[in-house]
Amino acid sequence: MKKDVINVALLGLGTVGTGVYKVMKLQEPEMKAKLNTVLKIKKILVRNLEKAAKKVDDTSVLTNNWQEIIGDETIDIVVEVMGGLEPAGTYIKEALTAGKCVVTANKDLIAARGGELLDTASEHHTDLLFEAAVAGGIPIINPLKHSLSANYISEVMGIVNGTTNFILSKMTEEGMDYYQALKIATELGFAEADPTADVEGYDAGRKVAILASIAFHSRVTFSDVYTEGITNITSRDIAYAREMGWVIKLLGVAKNTPEGVEARVHPMLIPKEHPLATVSGSYNAVFVHGDAVDDVMFYGRGAGELPTASAIMGDIFETARNITHDSTGSTHCGCYKNLPVKRIDDIISRYFLRMEVEDKPGVLATVASVLGNNSVSIEQVVQKATVGDNAEIVVITNHVRERHLKDALLTFREMSAVKGISGFIRVYG
Ligand code: HSE
Repeated sequence: MKKDVINVALLGLGTVGTGVYKVMKLQEPEMKAKLNTVLKIKKILVRNLEKAAKKVDDTSVLTNNWQEIIGDETIDIVVEVMGGLEPAGTYIKEALTAGKCVVTANKDLIAARGGELLDTASEHHTDLLFEAAVAGGIPIINPLKHSLSANYISEVMGIVNGTTNFILSKMTEEGMDYYQALKIATELGFAEADPTADVEGYDAGRKVAILASIAFHSRVTFSDVYTEGITNITSRDIAYAREMGWVIKLLGVAKNTPEGVEARVHPMLIPKEHPLATVSGSYNAVFVHGDAVDDVMFYGRGAGELPTASAIMGDIFETARNITHDSTGSTHCGCYKNLPVKRIDDIISRYFLRMEVEDKPGVLATVASVLGNNSVSIEQVVQKATVGDNAEIVVITNHVRERHLKDALLTFREMSAVKGISGFIRVYG
């Protein structure tokens, strides 16, 4: 239905909400020409009215009462940028049920309840858009849903967490240890005061759940995603990797294999020539392989006030066009398959192992035979350093099912000649 003005309510006025407020203003001069209508922020839901008053030109838009938004029939679009599962989940559900279109950046919620909320949107002929939930300003949801929709996508892999990429980049490029790099990430505002969700891979895991669901048309929730963070990566691992021609990155991996979907986040050694290896600092990049398009890579800023606002505003414009053309309600859940999700022990990969072993004759042969007995074949072995009475060896394996490698590690743990396994990292390819 053609409307001269489309009213928007913003839920939250933190970093991302403030970005949306700013980009909305920046777009004002050309909005009518672009959309054939005008968007107006009618209400902003905040917790602290006094604090929020400093961020807006007109304080009459501020409210701390959700009922003023959900009960206002003239509000067409609700933009949720408050984050967290609740009350955001309840507000989104109520907004969709009331026939309002919703734009959200909430990866936690979409990774947990995306299917249910998309069904609600469909039922009420409204839109639920969430481009900003994955990789901030980088367009990836829309390309997967639209431009690449005529492909069978077999793989989506990428750097989808800027904080950990910043930390690993500092460790790799400037030789810092993990804690020094984390301290700088915190000082620069990349890492939160509690960095757990980033450094343990949970933030990336939520993004992988969303990407896998869209790419493979099969619902993958956060609880299906294997997550392993970067807290065990040491400068020694990075130095060995570099010498051998690899870079260590925290990767989100979603693969559609004949045995089921792989959805995982963990550090990985990738060849230094791989396009993802050159993605440095807080940048994100997502690599997609489709049967028709072949390889595509998306690169840009994965977080931040204006980049994230860019993705949200794109969604707001899309839903405004849909409202104008009476075509809301087409963002239904695309998960028409029900594929199994593989356990991490069932994946097949190459592995990097850094071990301390007794420095005496025959030990290397014993290590090789334990690996061999567990179907693990060795691609490369490096022995460089001696630490006290022990030798440090690095083994790169050929492809093996993870379960077999873990069986070998269990045997190593019982052997007196093996003093420790300090590095265990999956290898690309
Ligand atoms: N904390 C995230 C990151 C940004 O470091 O990439 C929000 O998803």
